[in-house]
Amino acid sequence: MADAFSAKAPGRVNLIGEHTDYNGGMVLPAALSVGLAVALSPRDDDTVAVTSGGYEAPAIRNLSDDAVGEWSDPVVGAVREAKNIGLLNGGATLDVQSSIPEGSGLSSSAALIVAILKAARAAGGGTQSDVELAVAARRVENDYMGVPCGIMDQMAVALATPGTAMALDTKHLEYDLIPLPISHELVVVHSGLTRKLTDGRYAARKVECDATKAHFGTNDLCLLQVEQIEQEELDPVAKRRALHCATEQARVWTAIDALKAGDIAALGQAMNESHISMRDLFEMSLPEIDALVASAQELGAAGARLTGGGFGGCIVACVAKETREAWLEQLLARHPQAGFIDAISGEANGKA
Ligand code: GLA
Repeated sequence: MADAFSAKAPGRVNLIGEHTDYNGGMVLPAALSVGLAVALSPRDDDTVAVTSGGYEAPAIRNLSDDAVGEWSDPVVGAVREAKNIGLLNGGATLDVQSSIPEGSGLSSSAALIVAILKAARAAGGGTQSDVELAVAARRVENDYMGVPCGIMDQMAVALATPGTAMALDTKHLEYDLIPLPISHELVVVHSGLTRKLTDGRYAARKVECDATKAHFGTNDLCLLQVEQIEQEELDPVAKRRALHCATEQARVWTAIDALKAGDIAALGQAMNESHISMRDLFEMSLPEIDALVASAQELGAAGARLTGGGFGGCIVACVAKETREAWLEQLLARHPQAGFIDAISGEANGKA
């Protein structure tokens, strides 16, 4: 068998800035400690053979296969993209080891695609930058998988470093890595409700935003002024979506400034306000998640919110390090269907 080339990618959590990444806005994701590793050996034929730990049965696919709703779809799409951009001549034999729970909105699919592209870059001696590979990974999601996602997840898993948050301008793909707090942890808790970006609700929001963009004649809902949206004669749903985008953009900047200044109270407030906007304006939450976020706040988190695409998945809460254990115990006692996923802080900064 040909030599194996390996690459890793972490899962990600978004601290704030939801559904802004296809509306010209800012996001603030961070790398998790859960992640995945890929070992890839190029093949001369068009077979894509993949074994895994943390996923389902081994799969034997072909480069010409369409996406069929199986776990190996992102693998086929990534290998096909690697061939298209000149990194591979044919298929590949791969092994994937993952600790990222699927269906939790922590970007297991983006991590898988990015790690495969990075391993293929090593195999093919490619000179593409990590940003170029992130853009290629988004193409796999949009064009091969049919998931109309933005660029946040791919950029985060390709470039974020442990212990930092990535302040990413999704319009220009410029970013800044800001150390996370040391005094507090960003705790990721699964709601127990799984979600899929392919279930139609994410796409429905994208369609609504596209219609609103057409109304305003812009691609960048996040860059509109709140007053301008409020004064506009507009369908109420479109107005709520646009107001979420514009106000969320302001909250991301508040959170970035707060992180830089070590102002936990301001960071927490921005997170809490973001949840209200996701619940009432973007309408992407669920009653169970609202209850989980409310408990997280009542039990002492400086801030808590739904994170990711919405309609299920995880919440993220900012909790003082010394109280985290007791906080989590009480939270899970109140919400037995919820589960701890990960906790990250600035302590991991520089310890990649
Ligand atoms: C999913 C998508 C991202 C982004 C978020 C919502 O994670 O993959 O592109 O739109 O939802 O912020």
